[in-house]
Amino acid sequence: MRVILGVGGGIAAYKAAELARALMERGATVQPVMTAAARQFITPLTFAALTGKKVITDLFGDRTADEVLASSVEHIQVARENDVLVAAPATADLLAKFANGLADDFLSTLYLAFTGKVVLAPAMNTQMWLHPATAANIEKLRARGHHIVPPGSGPLACGETGVGRLADPARIADDVIRIGTGKQDFAGETIVITAGPTQEAIDPVRFISNRSSGKMGYAIAEAAAARGAQVILVSGPVKIPPPAGVKVVQVETALEMKDAVFAHLEEATIVIKSAAVADYMVENPAPQKMKKTAARMSIELSPTPDILAEVGRVKGDRLLVGFAAETQNMISEAKRKMETKNCDLVVGNLVSQHGVGFGSDDNEVTLVPRGGAPVPLPRASKRIVADQILDHVLPLRLALRSAS
Ligand SMILES: Cc1cc2nc3c(=O)[nH]c(=O)nc-3n(C[C@H](O)[C@H](O)[C@H](O)COP(=O)(O)O)c2cc1C
Repeated sequence: MRVILGVGGGIAAYKAAELARALMERGATVQPVMTAAARQFITPLTFAALTGKKVITDLFGDRTADEVLASSVEHIQVARENDVLVAAPATADLLAKFANGLADDFLSTLYLAFTGKVVLAPAMNTQMWLHPATAANIEKLRARGHHIVPPGSGPLACGETGVGRLADPARIADDVIRIGTGKQDFAGETIVITAGPTQEAIDPVRFISNRSSGKMGYAIAEAAAARGAQVILVSGPVKIPPPAGVKVVQVETALEMKDAVFAHLEEATIVIKSAAVADYMVENPAPQKMKKTAARMSIELSPTPDILAEVGRVKGDRLLVGFAAETQNMISEAKRKMETKNCDLVVGNLVSQHGVGFGSDDNEVTLVPRGGAPVPLPRASKRIVADQILDHVLPLRLALRSAS
């Protein structure tokens, strides 16, 4: 895939160098284009050394008219030769130019001549990002079919904390490759995905829950939707925004999660149960807040429904994927789940490992397919792991479909 990397003049311009690397690691050839402002932050030499390409910086350069014509009109040629244009960091200025069709430098002129896919990764100060002008430009660009990789939150170079940080370069690179290849291999599939924890009430203000953040299930939902699936995401209480193009059903308890899964089971061709459902619920939650009066207290718990096993019993030709988040004996537990719950694939992970599992952005999982040898996947971002899980799900689903 041939990618134009348009670097804007923001403080995050240095991260575009990481993006260039990440794109090349994913097999893309990268043509860097830098705005004049970008060159105030990082030199063209960095991108030339990383990509092995001449970095385009000027519309006219110091070439004569004859030289310009002899090498054909460069912005038109670059536009024709490439598949994806990614602008990172996409400054407020670049967004405004692109949205309104200004063409006063190489990158903005190239944008108008370009007919391929456009990915924009904005990065700026929070107030600039929240300004109605920027918001309107983003809406315009989104409506034009461009893909926006939203900025993240955290401390910014200007000293403030808020939204505006350039998204992780690996995430931008994944989006560029996915959008560039336009892989729609899950078109026609309807996937019910469960994610996050459940909360089982003790009284109106207290509950039993677990450390699941929902990030893995949300990443799978996002990846599946991007690959053309209809996705119904049954989500316990989490603090992450829902992925685009996904129907989200919010639930709180294990009982509600079970009801939501069964309400959508008929239409599902694939069920992926990544939620960390509470194993026990409080038998009779107190109707009023419990008071700290007794020296000791105990709570009577009863088992929650085993949603995975119940789906397994009636799954028919649906593909059923379970998760085994363990602190030990992960493979044997995954195999046990496979048999007792009638899964086709179990994704095992050791949540006790540092930097992976609950709450973290990375994961390291082992896939245990029915009747096959375990496949350990390398540690990677949950979004990358999500695509790798789906890569294994698809052939299993196709085999089940052709057998039925
Ligand atoms: C130190 C400094 C940091 C800047 N950081 C950003 C930024 O992160 N995002 C942004 O949109 N503009 C930022 N700007 C403003 C842009 O550099 C300015 O709007 C410029 O015209 C953008 O040009 P370009 O879009 O052609 O690259 C910054 C300016 C300065 C002086």
